[in-house]
Parts: sequence; structure tokens; C-alpha cells
Amino acid sequence: MTTDQDRIHEDVRARYAGAALAVAAGTPDASAAFVDEEAERGLFGGGLYEAADREALPEAALLASLGCGNPLAVAELREGERVLDLGSGGGIDVLLSARRVGPTGRAYGLDMTDEMLALALKNAEEAGASNVEFLKGRIEEIPLPASTIDVVISNCVINLAADKPAVLREIARVLRPGGRMGVSDVVARDDLSPAERAERGSYAGCIAGALSFAEYEAGLRAVGMTGVSLEATHEVADGMYAAIVRATKPLDWVAPAVGGTTRAPEADAPPMGRALPVASTSCCG
Ligand SMILES: C[S@@+](CC[C@H](N)C(=O)[O-])C[C@H]1O[C@@H](n2cnc3c(N)ncnc32)[C@H](O)[C@@H]1O
Repeated sequence: MTTDQDRIHEDVRARYAGAALAVAAGTPDASAAFVDEEAERGLFGGGLYEAADREALPEAALLASLGCGNPLAVAELREGERVLDLGSGGGIDVLLSARRVGPTGRAYGLDMTDEMLALALKNAEEAGASNVEFLKGRIEEIPLPASTIDVVISNCVINLAADKPAVLREIARVLRPGGRMGVSDVVARDDLSPAERAERGSYAGCIAGALSFAEYEAGLRAVGMTGVSLEATHEVADGMYAAIVRATKPLDWVAPAVGGTTRAPEADAPPMGRALPVASTSCCG
């Protein structure tokens, strides 16, 4: 039986498979396969990164950039940290993270779209990045063990998830106590109903599925995250904003109750080495 969640995943997957194939085929601007209107270009993509970061990347990684912000500008990554990028697309934030955490750190990218994963692997090879690993899977069920990640980043993806409470729960689960998230995402003004959000743009186009500011904050608090803050950076549609979302997993974090039971922190996840790697390379440029 196909559920609404399956349908959302399939629409989103098809949209981003198309964008990845367009970049792989040499289409000059991946956003042409992504944004609905000419006017939306410039609000998404590689132009949101510092010139020095753009120059360090393979061209295809920049062309495949479809984010609405720059999570690295807020994540303050340090040498040796383990970073996870949810919905890593063509790999832009994984590659930039890998440079910041250096050879003693590791950057993981998780994406459900084969075509994006293939593009990301090619970009990682071209960049000579070796401390990176790309995993296939859904951000609602992260294929990594509990408490193993220092920083979760993401760029314009959580709004696309079919089950947002599951994503927020998974972020809290995989972060180590004291770990943090620094995410860019589209967020709706609190007074906009789901129908009003959908009038402003499609689900796969990163608009209709956006949480409101209050919903995001409540969702993160519900999974036990603290220090939650949301900061709008620019408007991407009427009443819809690209925003930076920050939160921390407290040292005394308790797994939230799911369906009346409290989930053990290490429940249901394979050990690190048995995650579902698409491929990895091993050392960094
Ligand atoms: C808007 S693009 C952003 C890509 C990348 N973060 C960037 O900044 O260029 C969305 C990406 O998230 C992936 N994605 C969307 N929903 C997902 C889900 N539920 N689980 C895993 N990946 C997902 C898509 O395949 C696509 O590569």
C-alpha cells in the first residue's frame, strides 16, 4: 500500500534525481531544474557561500547546490569533529565540512536519491576529499548509531521530510550529549496555515512542507533539545523565510517517549561500521 509519506518521498526523490542528472549532463544551472520561477534563483544555491569556499569546490558541486542558506557559516566546525549533513545532495556542505574538520575528523552525507549520491561521490573524488562518507537512506531513519555525531548540519531539506517529528527525534538520537545542530531551512511565519504555505510553492520545491517558527521550536524541545533558536536570514516567498536553526543536545538528555515507550538511546541502529555506505574515501585534501 502506498502511503502519503511514500508519495512525498517519491515526488521529492524524482525532483532531485532530475536536478542531479541535469548537473551531470552539464546543464549550466541546476537551479533551472529546481526552482519554480526565475525570480527564485539567487535565493537558493551556491551564491550563498563565501567566495573562498566556492573557489575550493569542484564546479559540479557548486552547480548542484540547492540549499537556502549556508549551515557552515553557523556550525563553527572544529578539527577532529564528526559532522553529519542531512540531505547532502551534490555534497557541497560535506566537502566544505571535511576541509574544516581535517584528517582527524569525518564528514558524513546522507541522502535518499541515488543520482545525487552518484554526483556527490564524483565531486568528492574530484575534490580529493578522503575523510568523507556518503550514506543512502532517509533522514527519518538515520543509519548511524546513537550518540556518535558532534554536529548535525542540513541545508534546505528538513522541510522536505515526510515525517518531521521522526527527523527531529533522529537528530537528537545521533548527536552525542553536548553535540549541536546548525541547520538552514525554509520556515513559515506562524500565522500561515498549511494551505497558505502550499499556495506559495510546491512541496518538492521546499515551500509547502515548511514548519512554522513555533512548530520547529516546539518540535525540537519535544525531543529534548535545548538552546533552541531560529533566525530568519532572507524571505524566499511571501511570509516564508530561509532561517538558521540552532539547538544543543543536553548532557543529561533523556530519549523522548515514542508511542508511550521511552526509546533506548542506542535502539535500532547498526554500529557505525555497518551503516549503509554508498562509498567512502579515506584522507583529505
Ligand atoms: C533542496 S536539495 C538540498 C541538497 C543540499 N543540502 C544542498 O544544499 O545542495 C534536497 C536534497 O535532500 C534529499 N532529500 C529530501 N528528502 C529526503 C529524505 N526524507 N531523506 C533523505 N534525503 C532527502 C534530496 O534527495 C536532495 O538531494
